[in-house]
Amino acid sequence: MRLIITDNYKKLSRRTARHVAGQIELKPDCNLGLPTGSTPLGMYDVLVKLHQEEGLSLAEVSTFNLDEYRGLDRNHPRSFYNYMAENFFQHVDIKEENINFLDGTAGDIEQECQRFENKIATSGGIDLMVLGIGRNGHIGFNEPGKELKSNSHLAELAEETIKANQRFFQEEEEVPAQALTMGMGTILKSDRILLLASGRSKAWAVKELMKNRITPEFPASFLRVHPWVTLIIDQEAADKI
Ligand code: PGA
Repeated sequence: MRLIITDNYKKLSRRTARHVAGQIELKPDCNLGLPTGSTPLGMYDVLVKLHQEEGLSLAEVSTFNLDEYRGLDRNHPRSFYNYMAENFFQHVDIKEENINFLDGTAGDIEQECQRFENKIATSGGIDLMVLGIGRNGHIGFNEPGKELKSNSHLAELAEETIKANQRFFQEEEEVPAQALTMGMGTILKSDRILLLASGRSKAWAVKELMKNRITPEFPASFLRVHPWVTLIIDQEAADKI
């Protein structure tokens, strides 16, 4: 696992965006795996600027998002689809048909997860997966527990995750307790992985990740088995290492 420590969040965002842009330039029809949350917002901003000011084109790129809340329609203001539309997709030239999401409203969850897995596989797999990390070490909604599911699946959010995500919802709104998420196996099949962590609240998770052990009690530790993972963190997230 390669470690890059940047001075601050702005530099983390620029460095990550430049890496993603490099992937697109090398392979214009690449498949990107993408996260939501606070951490990647700066990266999306820089990618939009690279598109608007330097002609970076996503016209042939396909994207696969990590997860979606169970029960939220894609047009719901708090859905991850809507987050991606507002923060990224609307501002670049990606084609609607190249955007891939798990459908949080699907009636048959198993079938929906299988459809998503098949789509990744028939598209040739994910070239570059960008990930955030939860304070508790979750990746996507693969929460700490006795075991992890390999493929995309319906997940129960940890109490800590529900609390952390409340900030994206209005006070009176409840954070959904379930989500559809890529599994750790889905994620580990990606060719290359960038894992981002910013701020002091992630320092414990980064320290845990540095330990030479793999355990479902800390899902991100499974990234240690992957041959190409680059961890891009800022000084604050590096506080405990
Ligand atoms: P964050 O979320 O980027 O909003 O901190 C990351 C995560 O929980 O996976």
